[in-house]
Amino acid sequence: MKIMVIGGGGREHALIRSLKRSPKVERIYALPGNAGMEPDATCVSIAAKDIPAQVEFARENGIDYAVVAPDDPLVLGAVDALEAAGIPCFGPRKDAAIIEGSKVFSKWLMKKYGIPTAAYEDFSDLKNAMAYVEKQTPPIVVKADGLALGKGVVIAESVAEAKDALRSMMQDKKFGESGLRVVIEEFLTGPEVSVLAFTDGKTMVPMVSSMDHKRACDGDQGLNTGGMGTIAPNPYYTPEIAERCMQEIFLPTMNAMNAEGRTFKGCLYFGLMITPKGPKVIEYNCRFGDPETQVVLPLLDSDLLSVMQAVTEERLAEADVRFSQDSACCVVMASKGYPASYETGFPITVDPGLDCEIFYAGAKSKDGAVVTGGGRVLGVTARAGTLRQAIQKAYSGVKKVHFANAYYRKDIGKRALSALENE
Ligand code: AMP
Ligand code: GLY
Repeated sequence: MKIMVIGGGGREHALIRSLKRSPKVERIYALPGNAGMEPDATCVSIAAKDIPAQVEFARENGIDYAVVAPDDPLVLGAVDALEAAGIPCFGPRKDAAIIEGSKVFSKWLMKKYGIPTAAYEDFSDLKNAMAYVEKQTPPIVVKADGLALGKGVVIAESVAEAKDALRSMMQDKKFGESGLRVVIEEFLTGPEVSVLAFTDGKTMVPMVSSMDHKRACDGDQGLNTGGMGTIAPNPYYTPEIAERCMQEIFLPTMNAMNAEGRTFKGCLYFGLMITPKGPKVIEYNCRFGDPETQVVLPLLDSDLLSVMQAVTEERLAEADVRFSQDSACCVVMASKGYPASYETGFPITVDPGLDCEIFYAGAKSKDGAVVTGGGRVLGVTARAGTLRQAIQKAYSGVKKVHFANAYYRKDIGKRALSALENE
């Protein structure tokens, strides 16, 4: 089969590597992909948001199956457009992708169906929002309604900071249309768990749990980033918590979307917080997480393409979805200065004997060489029998990957390891 994967980051590289293992796959195209994935896929310079060009490419090249990975094209309706052209797809349609595309929608859905989440109010009027935050006790959580590259969440430590956030979103339009409406919610505490789940609207099959490390610096300090590393499985996600999540969150979300006439088919991402009062939803994403996918899919022992096709054809209940008992760790290597400003264009080299997988994200080609091309350059993923071994192996791998101005966190998995050791 000829497969087309839309997107160009580390998550897409991990998807492509897993798809490539399927005996059914004959060729994979990445739109746009990146230079680091060239050995695994044919990169085509069509932007992830250019839906008409994607449809045309799929038609002209006899694409048998498309995987739409990033949030933007999903929210814009890439799956609807490809399906209308007769191309079977993995990913939710536009009417279901709204679960990530609008926080006002997702909060409303959770309230209506009693799905545990932080208490909230939403506002489209700056004055009303300002008056509301004055009555709140910090920390105050302010979220832009729409997509904002993972940067639309402000945890304000004072009322003044919350007001600044409201002004920059609602008045100065820092996130464009995305911030014209905002959600202001209760501050929750507890360890965070990411759970990606396959669903066809009838069955929900959670994948192995994971933990992201969102802040730029060690000890969870510094700015929020797209994710500096991940481990799987997440030790805070015990079998008891998993069962509660299934009954209180996963199935109720699937049923709620069905009841709203917005059946969700694809990978539904649950960003959870295990609070003293039980698991609650921090956010939904309508897609695989990045860099969660870089630890979850290397642990998938089944054929990813077959699972995806089962989702598309609404027969997930019959699919074989098995995960290994191993652990995985992904350390993201970034350009120094990320997520603020950084330089690119430095050659990337890898020493021989690397016992890890590399998933390229911000890589481009220059004079025939692969060079740095973004903030998060690549992720080094190791799989091993225990979490401790996986972490050690990933960090040994990082030492074998070189580029100028490389920066990475030294403590990926540390919190998870201490949780395991305190059990
Ligand atoms: P999000 O982009 O919605 O995942 O939010 C980014 C990060 O902000 C999350 O990973 C949490 O660490 C934090 N966060 C979001 N909402 C809350 C909340 N209600 N209480 C505490 N922390 C939150
Ligand atoms: N790792 C968080 C996300 O993919 O949004």
